[in-house]
Amino acid sequence: MKDQNYKSLIATFLKCNANQVFLYWKGRVALFAILKAMGIKEGDEVILPAFTCVVVPNAILYLKAKPVYLDISADNYNMNIDLLEESITNKTKVILCQNTFGLSSNIEEILQIAKRYKLYTIEDCTHGFGGEYNGKPNGSYCDAAFYSTQWNKPFSTGIGGFLLVNNDKLINPVRLLENKKVTPTLGEKITLSSLLLLNKYLINRFTYWTLLKLYRFLSKRNWIIGSNRGEELSEVNMPYNFFKGITSVQINAGIKELSLVHSVNILRRKNSKDYTKFLISKNKTYVDENLVQNHLFLKYPLMVRDRELIFHLAEKEKINLGDWFLSPLHPVTENLEQWGLKRELFPVADQISKKILNLPTDVSNNNRVINFLKKHIELIE
Ligand SMILES: Cc1ncc(COP(=O)(O)O)c(C=O)c1O
Repeated sequence: MKDQNYKSLIATFLKCNANQVFLYWKGRVALFAILKAMGIKEGDEVILPAFTCVVVPNAILYLKAKPVYLDISADNYNMNIDLLEESITNKTKVILCQNTFGLSSNIEEILQIAKRYKLYTIEDCTHGFGGEYNGKPNGSYCDAAFYSTQWNKPFSTGIGGFLLVNNDKLINPVRLLENKKVTPTLGEKITLSSLLLLNKYLINRFTYWTLLKLYRFLSKRNWIIGSNRGEELSEVNMPYNFFKGITSVQINAGIKELSLVHSVNILRRKNSKDYTKFLISKNKTYVDENLVQNHLFLKYPLMVRDRELIFHLAEKEKINLGDWFLSPLHPVTENLEQWGLKRELFPVADQISKKILNLPTDVSNNNRVINFLKKHIELIE
């Protein structure tokens, strides 16, 4: 019952029907479900940007299909559409575009190309829930879109994800997979609700870094539920019980969080405008406002000269900066060939991933962030 309620609430935001929405343990599971429903199999090719989270190519590789990466555009951190057509072969089945940091890809052009070659399209909206493209919610245009509700996402259920299916023909295949989902254990439910409580009551400006480091240490070893299981970052075999459903803990958290999304997004838009204005005034790299009308800045990208130093200074001054994406396949920085990616073939993504960090857009007072930037302006590009 509660899951129907949650689906309806999501559907209201996405201006779709609740029966187009499917719920999963994580966003990557939603991606796996739609690829499977599209019939993706060994030898098929899926085109995606070379600036994403490693769990995205993982979902493709779990089906023994091949991720075909495209370098990105420095304007919007999404796939460079000029490279799209030349990467299509007779094995290509899907174009997977992304709204990196909330910024949309140029969807019309992607859809035109996809139509010409009869390819499926999927939008990775893990950063883009709440943003719009040409007056419609992100995720409305492709055959399907998937979303994440992990810790740092537009709204959070700790971990979690959902799928929006726009192509009627795919609804049934996705529905057929519903009974294949593994039910999360009681232990997982308890751990997740404890983490959500800890996040609510224990995390503040002073405890954040210590607890974050502890969380990453524990989750890397699979000692608690983390954003990634250790093996997802070191190999391409599907983890045990990967295809998992959602829990009531996540549904309850999601229902609560959705009621706050509008006001947080107003804040995100205001803060990102302020960052843009500031960066223009200092002649630094910024995101062009024309690209971002009604888009959502989940985080604001910043190019810096010495990332390590900035992170160190920020931690000392209790400024919470993000590290997306440290590599073309975040957070993995070594041995990307295992995922079929050679860094030197993607110079834009490679360079950006060496210099980028992100400013928070959900802070109620961005003066501290802007003052920090002013103080260290020589480190910003
Ligand atoms: C661009 C992108 N796609 C997909 C995902 C996966 O989402 P989830 O962690 O919910 O599986 C992430 C992750 O955080 C991401 O940043």
